[in-house]
Amino acid sequence: PRYFALLPAAGVGARMAANGPKQYLTVGGKPMLRHAVDAFRASALVTHTYVVVSPDDGVIDSVLPSNLDGVTVLRVGGATRMDSVLNGLRALTGVLDQYDLVMVHDAARPGLTPALIAKLIDGVGDDPAGGLLAMPVVDTIKRSAPATDGSRTSAATVPRDGLWAAQTPQMFSYGLLLRALGSAPDANAITDDASAVEMLGHAPRLIEGHPRNLKVTLPADIRIAEMYLANKED
Ligand code: CTP
Ligand code: MG
Repeated sequence: PRYFALLPAAGVGARMAANGPKQYLTVGGKPMLRHAVDAFRASALVTHTYVVVSPDDGVIDSVLPSNLDGVTVLRVGGATRMDSVLNGLRALTGVLDQYDLVMVHDAARPGLTPALIAKLIDGVGDDPAGGLLAMPVVDTIKRSAPATDGSRTSAATVPRDGLWAAQTPQMFSYGLLLRALGSAPDANAITDDASAVEMLGHAPRLIEGHPRNLKVTLPADIRIAEMYLANKED
């Protein structure tokens, strides 16, 4: 099979609250998005990488020069992550076929490596349900409830056993992912691609990822990402 990467990079980074979208912040010497793109470009297994940005993005041309081989920018980003991924997939009608495998990866995960890409591809194998990188949950998980004064209480402890935290890339056949996202009920409730595939009754494979593949969400995450980027062994 052929393997492709699709990077949603059309978010605004509200929680980062920086001066512009977080995917363009400099992390470990280059724009965050560039780290993820370079991991796919460095992987011999990946045929081509597509980056989905918002139609009015004014920064992408300086981050990804148009002559960079193996990469194409699609200016079809939407209001939610799910919309951005779905618009990107639809833009590739006739370019990708049903059985091509698509790895969807957050532009905000700069710690991805070619080794993790290879681990995902190897771990999913020919499973038609696809799969994703994820980490077993290490924290004790609480279900919160509102207190009368407006604060929150811990109403219950959710057994951690069997809980995994999703990472990306998440890999599915082009046909399955297009069907799953196209029929998902609520774009705001879909925060990853696997959840849409699960709604069709499939059980994607969980492949253990790595802490270095964290999603940069809050300002403090930048320092953590830089620590991992400085040390390829971690
Ligand atoms: N994303 C996207 N289109 C959107 C929203 C998000 O392509 N409408 C992308 C982001 O650019 C990011 C990935 O989806 O690479 C994961 O989303 P998230 O971490 O939530 O990024 P933001 O939505 O930008 O951040 P926030 O939720 O804090 O605003
Ligand atoms: Mg978001």
